[in-house]
Amino acid sequence: MAKKVTDKKVGVLMGGLSSEREVSLASGEAILKALQEKGYDVVAVDVDRDAAEQLRKLGVGVVFNALHGTYGEDGAIQGMLDVLGIPFTGSGVLASAVGMHKVVSKVMFKAHGLTVGPYAVIGAKERGAVKSLPGDIGFPAVVKPCAEGSSVGVSIVTNQDEFDPAMDVAFRYGDDVLIEKFIAGKEIQVGILGEKALGAIEIVPKEAFYNYRAKYEAGMSDHFFPARIPDAVYRRTLEAGLIAHRALGCRGYSRVDFIVNEGGDIYILELNTLPGMTATSLLPEIAKGVGIPFSDLVEEILRLAVA
Ligand SMILES: Nc1ncnc2c1ncn2[C@@H]1O[C@H](COP(=O)(O)OP(=O)(O)O)[C@@H](O)[C@H]1O
Ligand SMILES: [Mg+2]
Repeated sequence: MAKKVTDKKVGVLMGGLSSEREVSLASGEAILKALQEKGYDVVAVDVDRDAAEQLRKLGVGVVFNALHGTYGEDGAIQGMLDVLGIPFTGSGVLASAVGMHKVVSKVMFKAHGLTVGPYAVIGAKERGAVKSLPGDIGFPAVVKPCAEGSSVGVSIVTNQDEFDPAMDVAFRYGDDVLIEKFIAGKEIQVGILGEKALGAIEIVPKEAFYNYRAKYEAGMSDHFFPARIPDAVYRRTLEAGLIAHRALGCRGYSRVDFIVNEGGDIYILELNTLPGMTATSLLPEIAKGVGIPFSDLVEEILRLAVA
């Protein structure tokens, strides 16, 4: 067996307290299995309020973070691990917090020259006064919570009647709601590993957009790797992914979501600091497409955490 990147006990953090708990358990199980097969001393940690105590009791020396969403992806657990002095995979506190907040990250992306579509933010206090779509956005628009994932709370609204109910749904998941212009085009996601953009995959959802079902039910979306866009646009999309990764100061890996329109304009939607990591998730699919098997991807992410 090849030389291991660490002899420490690896704790795979999974589950957790967010709306993406189920997805995280799937990512965590896949990572656990991959590390076991490679001969690592590895243990699953289902994260609850006593996570720090659990890690200490289990003697975990390095963490593979397979959490998604609140506490796991937003810098909270990263801060706890910093305090405990345990190295962990993926981005640190600041990049995680910024990446989780779709509006704060848009500001950073814009500052780094990336193209962001028109948007507006409505806070809970303004909610009552906002009965119609604000500003220059126009229908169709996308209404979403500022800090969720897996398309939880996301709606596409095509007319005024759909606006208010969509706002109610989004406000269930936080104090600020983001309204974006719907960008028509191909949904392209870029996988980043280390300091490299691995490739870009194209998603074609079978429903109106890439919703929860399309993401996690087999056959609810088609994937094309490499994305079916002209070479020059493909290269620019990879570059944009790397710029986004660096703009937020991400570490280790990430997945950056874009819409690329007919004219080759590349709109960034968001960056995921802890993308799905089941064997059939998008980053693993991109890695596989460039010759990196799932278990090697997992091991490389771990190596970057201890390097
Ligand atoms: N502005 C937009 N224009 C077109 N489609 C969008 C837009 N915003 C979101 N979507 C669709 O909704 C999905 C989820 O939105 P996203 O911002 O990526 O949130 P999440 O963090 O839940 O993945 C996207 O993958 C895409 O299919
Ligand atoms: Mg997304």
